[in-house]
Amino acid sequence: MNDLIQKTAQDLAGAKNVVALTGAGISVESGIPPFRGPGGLWEKIDPLEFAHIDAFMKDPAKVWNFFIKEMKEILDNAGPNDAHKSLARLEELGIVTTIITQNVDGLHQIAGNTDVIEFHGNFAWQRCLDCDERFETVRLDISQIPPRCSCGGIYKPDCVFFGEIIPPHHLLRSEQVASTCTIMLVIGTSAEVHPAALMPVIAKQAGATVIEINLEKTSLTQKTSDYIIMGKAGEIMKRLTSEVERLL
Ligand code: APR
Repeated sequence: MNDLIQKTAQDLAGAKNVVALTGAGISVESGIPPFRGPGGLWEKIDPLEFAHIDAFMKDPAKVWNFFIKEMKEILDNAGPNDAHKSLARLEELGIVTTIITQNVDGLHQIAGNTDVIEFHGNFAWQRCLDCDERFETVRLDISQIPPRCSCGGIYKPDCVFFGEIIPPHHLLRSEQVASTCTIMLVIGTSAEVHPAALMPVIAKQAGATVIEINLEKTSLTQKTSDYIIMGKAGEIMKRLTSEVERLL
């Protein structure tokens, strides 16, 4: 692993326009469970029953009571870890420009990154299903379930549920930055959900170096990634960033 960290640090130290694609794995060390694999949320609850738009429209109170309230508690108590902080530091150093995140926890922005594409939205906001008004989750009164807007409409987290499309401006911009980056760091994603999982492929086809950081190999490892550094994102990113700083 040391050699790979050394090699990656050398690549990053000499690079500009590095983009990171992040998934749930980057926030595990912040106390937020992943979706898949051991201890994954989808092991406990059926995503089609609680995270699909049809399920929400059919019974919003059930989804609020058994999924969203739990997510809110977990996210309310989570803060950035060394991996988030390292990406913010790499932005300060002029290396990382943009983060495409599948996460709805807002931890990249809290850590200090300024250009974050929230591919699946952000849980910090709710959207009224009737008048489309956005409302901050922290100000939400959840003594009434489902919570309602002043227009009487039901609030839904401003996140992309299964069965919903990715906001077109996020998709377009992600494809743009993926096709022009020099290096793509792919951190803590199983790369099983599309179209997010296509971004490393677009980067690779455009000539970028694709580097995975994950506890385990993914569907990208064989076909798309130049190499994978296996381990915890927080530990690896911290070592990587201090090595980059040493080289600069
Ligand atoms: N450090 C690095 N990688 C980790 C860590 C860690 N500490 N912990 C877990 N991982 C890896 C796992 O090995 C797995 O490959 O992170 C990945 C998490 O994968 P998923 O749980 O599938 O999360 P993600 O890829 O973000 O899911 C994509 O699916 O459920 C939907 O909308 C949801 O955005 C989510 C999307």
